[in-house]
Amino acid sequence: MKPKSLVNIDDYDKDDIMRIIDTACKFKKNPNRQLLKGKVCAALFFEPSTRTRLSFETAISRLEGRIVGFSDTATSSATKGESLKDTIMMVSNYTDLIIMRHHLEGSARYASEVSPIPIINAGDGSNQHPTQTMLDIFSIYETQKTLQNLTITIVGDLKYGRAVHSLIEGLSHFEPTFNFVAPEELKIPEKHKVFCDKKSIKYREFTEFSLESINDTDILYMTRVQRERFTDLMEYEKVKNIYILKNDMLKNSRDNLKILHPLPRVKEISQDVDENPKAYYFEQARNGIYARQAVICDLLGIEVNS
Ligand code: CP
Repeated sequence: MKPKSLVNIDDYDKDDIMRIIDTACKFKKNPNRQLLKGKVCAALFFEPSTRTRLSFETAISRLEGRIVGFSDTATSSATKGESLKDTIMMVSNYTDLIIMRHHLEGSARYASEVSPIPIINAGDGSNQHPTQTMLDIFSIYETQKTLQNLTITIVGDLKYGRAVHSLIEGLSHFEPTFNFVAPEELKIPEKHKVFCDKKSIKYREFTEFSLESINDTDILYMTRVQRERFTDLMEYEKVKNIYILKNDMLKNSRDNLKILHPLPRVKEISQDVDENPKAYYFEQARNGIYARQAVICDLLGIEVNS
């Protein structure tokens, strides 16, 4: 039987997600435990990363596991033409779990099909980023004290943003209302609207980033325009700075509002927002350690006590 992997956020159902959040809460109280002693994890990053890679490394180090891998494809034998299958088969000889980021959509699913050990998708092209969703949902729960019936406004690159695509699916268990704010060129793809319709999830689409959409929301999820996904950089230039959140735009926002962003930020959140208590994106990134510790232990069948 194939080991359980986390490739798409729907590999985890509502109960699984709640279990991860519960475990992440335990790790936030105490992230330093000996739970991965004797385990070796691989981190194969075929695409650049700061937060995902370093928070996975921190997560594993604080649990006293070891980590091997590469952060630059140029230093791996992929540059000599080694296939993804062979890379996965080799690395699974050496390690207990593989964390992988790759530019090709579907690459993590393929890796999970050939791998005898669990695979964690750390982002596959524009498709999915399920551990980002775990930390996003953890951050939403932490700040709102509930996940039910929240209004979530997602702003920016809804076409290429894999964090957005996973988040919509992950939150679908909790009766959200979504506001999708994007320019025509970066609108949410049709398949995600079909998904919402099937699940009877309410959503509205806007091309204007209005004060009304900021004032009527519980979570404002800002995103970067994903330059690396554009084939025509002139198209990127047209939309790159289309929405910029400034501190004075938050004056009439709800008391419970929190601003999230998967990061990295380019210009879509002005620096003057950072000091606003409603800005939560740096704490959100910190939560990546605890959510990822929870996912790793879950996939390796390691029990986490309070
Ligand atoms: N949020 C995120 O995936 O950031 P990195 O690309 O830095 O890992």
